[in-house]
Amino acid sequence: MFEPVLTRHINEPEAYTLDFYVRHGGYQPLRTALGMTPEAITDAVKRSGLRGRGGAGFPTGLKWSFVPKDIPKPKYLCINADESEPGTFKDHVLLERNPHLLFEGCVIACRAIGATACYIYIRGEFFHLQEQLEAELVKARAAGYVGRNILGSGVDCDIWVHRGAGAYEAGEETALIESLEGKRAQPRLKPPFPAVVGLYGCPTVVNNVETICNVPVIIEKGPEWFAAIGPEKNSGPKLFCVSGHVKKPGVYEAAMDVTLRQLIYDYAGGIREDRAIKAIIPGGSSTPVLLPDQLDVQCSFDGLVAAGSMLGSAAIIVMDETTSMVWAAKNLIHFYKHESCGKCTPCREGVDWLYNILDKIERGDGEGRDIDLLLSVCDNIGGKTLCPFGDAEIAPVLSTIQHFRAEYETYIRTGESPVHSDFRADEPVAAH
Ligand SMILES: Cc1cc2nc3c(=O)[nH]c(=O)nc-3n(C[C@H](O)[C@H](O)[C@H](O)COP(=O)(O)O)c2cc1C
Repeated sequence: MFEPVLTRHINEPEAYTLDFYVRHGGYQPLRTALGMTPEAITDAVKRSGLRGRGGAGFPTGLKWSFVPKDIPKPKYLCINADESEPGTFKDHVLLERNPHLLFEGCVIACRAIGATACYIYIRGEFFHLQEQLEAELVKARAAGYVGRNILGSGVDCDIWVHRGAGAYEAGEETALIESLEGKRAQPRLKPPFPAVVGLYGCPTVVNNVETICNVPVIIEKGPEWFAAIGPEKNSGPKLFCVSGHVKKPGVYEAAMDVTLRQLIYDYAGGIREDRAIKAIIPGGSSTPVLLPDQLDVQCSFDGLVAAGSMLGSAAIIVMDETTSMVWAAKNLIHFYKHESCGKCTPCREGVDWLYNILDKIERGDGEGRDIDLLLSVCDNIGGKTLCPFGDAEIAPVLSTIQHFRAEYETYIRTGESPVHSDFRADEPVAAH
């Protein structure tokens, strides 16, 4: 199995502390990076092939190079730690167990783009992490790794933790910027892109937690080492969140040549009660479902696109044969209905329609025309919103209809689910 890099020590109780991190070679890459020019750091990240781990897989070094060098405005780095996509819990692990890797990556990235301020935007529900992150930041500042004149180099870079109010849309990069500015987390029209007009109208890079945690690794081990991990153009260590009907749900680190089968059976222990798989969501709730005959697909950005889905936030949600696909689609749409920020009419109104129609089918009141109506509503949302939320919310509906239309039709015809799930809607939800 792959030798973990980002999560190597996470099970050791003191892993999150500054002492532990420094004892295991932490902040050495920062010393190296302080001796490099900003261009050399960006070039190393470009050569490593690192692609953003937040969802879209955009090349990180290229994104950094869009930040204009010659304008007299401050530049900012924002770390996207909003992590609210259903099934996604990898950044949480890094924030909780390896915060100094993130801080170190932030300072190196700031040096590359010419920023002296970095905001870590954490999701509203991460209040327990805010305290720990801030306490560790105090220690990093006192030790000279963050703040003014870092390690006597003359380089300044400070980091602040900002907790959102608990909204999925705040993870969209322009909505995140709006929220940081104290406004409602709603997306901006692009262009201009944040790299040119971002936080407070200044050039801004928004990067995911896991993306930035890879930066010290690239500086330490070299871009060639990094690029050699996994398939071409899909390089480096990757965290996968495996959940649903598996025996051992969790965060697993692997190279991106790993297959769905390996992640589900070798890492996550297989399916509960050794049942058959019915469907797999490979990259978080907004990515189309895959079928059991696609288990040998490579879990890389390009591998999953070729299979008709996406790597997204690498959240693999496994559903066994007892799962009703109508129920699954309704469950996901319930989330999107709750989280639509309301700015774009097709998304705001359309998601209510999707929910109501799915709910009607689930109650046994579905009509023959409902499937076409669902498809028509999706058609009126997809590509018609300011941000990709609209495309995200229709994916569960479109892909479950595409692969399980007969199940929808039987449900509508008989008024009850043809699948007998052991999920009971009236079961109390466990407190958390
Ligand atoms: C509705 C919505 C929610 C998102 N939530 C997150 C999130 O929680 N974390 C994240 O890193 N990216 C999220 N993204 C993607 C970001 O807009 C952005 O692409 C990402 O932070 C860029 O970082 P990267 O280049 O390092 O991947 C979201 C996008 C959308 C449309």
